[in-house]
Amino acid sequence: MTNIKKSIHGEWSSRTAFILAATGSAVGLGNIWKFPYITGENGGGAFVLVYLLCVALIGIPIFIAESMMGRRGRENPVNTMLNLSTEANTTPQWQYVGWLGIIAGLLILSYYSVIAGWASAYVVKAFVGDFINTDAAQVQQLFDQFIKSPLQLIFWHSVMMLTTLIIVARGVGEGLEKSVRFLMPSLFALLILLLMYAMTTKGYFQGLHFLFNVDFSKLTGKGVLIAMGQAFFSLGLGMGCVMVYGAYLPKDISIAKTSIIIAAVDTVVALLAGIIIFPIVFSNNLNPSAGPGLIFETLPLAFGNMTGGWLFGVLFFIILVFAALSSAIALIEPAIAWLIENRNLSRKLASLYACTASWGLGLITIFSFNVWSDIKLFGQNLFELLDFLTSNIMLPLGGLAIAVFSGWLMNAQHSQQELNLVSDNHFKIWHFLIKYIAPIAVFLVFLQVMGII
Ligand code: PHE
Repeated sequence: MTNIKKSIHGEWSSRTAFILAATGSAVGLGNIWKFPYITGENGGGAFVLVYLLCVALIGIPIFIAESMMGRRGRENPVNTMLNLSTEANTTPQWQYVGWLGIIAGLLILSYYSVIAGWASAYVVKAFVGDFINTDAAQVQQLFDQFIKSPLQLIFWHSVMMLTTLIIVARGVGEGLEKSVRFLMPSLFALLILLLMYAMTTKGYFQGLHFLFNVDFSKLTGKGVLIAMGQAFFSLGLGMGCVMVYGAYLPKDISIAKTSIIIAAVDTVVALLAGIIIFPIVFSNNLNPSAGPGLIFETLPLAFGNMTGGWLFGVLFFIILVFAALSSAIALIEPAIAWLIENRNLSRKLASLYACTASWGLGLITIFSFNVWSDIKLFGQNLFELLDFLTSNIMLPLGGLAIAVFSGWLMNAQHSQQELNLVSDNHFKIWHFLIKYIAPIAVFLVFLQVMGII
């Protein structure tokens, strides 16, 4: 029976350990770097509202489903899907959901590590005092010069990938638990500090208005897809990473409660980042749709002009790097678990192969900001395409498959037993959301973007 099988990777030592690791995977560049810039590109309030709805109605039910399936299957996503499809008496083709996840993880990590590299380069820039008393034009120039240099980007990307490799080669363990335990509160404290700064700027209310004033005329159909993709990306859903983390989850832990806590923390961090960035954008007459450079062109202004800004700047970018690393290790874990379990590799070798592949793919993103910046397909450069393909297509597709599998194919008694909810009604709510609402919503968004409805 698969449901009594113990994970070969060991287990989390406690519920807190799982919450910490899963929060570490959820909170990262997606919240602090990506959420603000895509909100800026997609007109603000209406986009934020759709994002929040997607987190609540699609994200949380799928998060619960994915961890529950992981804990029942107990292996890497491919084998977990195989185990579960055998148990549900259905086709082994479901294993391709696992494959989709492994590939999405490698692809996402390839650019994630590049951006984490930007954050680490900014630790040094903050440290040597590059932000002190700067104005918007100087900060912009600093960033432009930086991303125009393939060598610098390759250097920092390599530093990040190597660090990821060293951490994952050691396995899911204490180190991770400990670092996240200290990381999250520090990140939170620094965000509050930055929030206090943002409140003193003249663009504070304009920033809030931009973020929370819902004006649907500013939101395009593609914007809706991007908002949904971001719900998946930010929660780390639809690619088997919640599934592998779920596989390390002891039996007696309430999956639903932990999933809701993680989603809430993740959402609060993203909103905080937005409430910090947009006032700075409007106070300095910057463009909210500046793209992936947005936080690198705004936060240095805050640090350069606030008391204690040197220290806070250094600390902030260090913490951002740590937050990125705790997500990076989650992105690569499905591939590593597969290499260990199905190819009989040692953890060290599996980590080396997976990180090397992802490192190589990262060069595409690096060159898309400089030597290949003219290469465009459908009006998007290679980085944008990669991000679009993974966040907005692969993750929602994986999520859709997870929803359909757990809602329609898995025996409801099994999922009820696995979720072990205190009240029957809670189970019914989840089951309704996962069976109808989540899959239909994802499907409709896809149709709408393809121009079918
Ligand atoms: N959730 C992470 C972030 O917001 C990124 C991530 C995506 C991690 C997918 C794991 C899986 O930064």
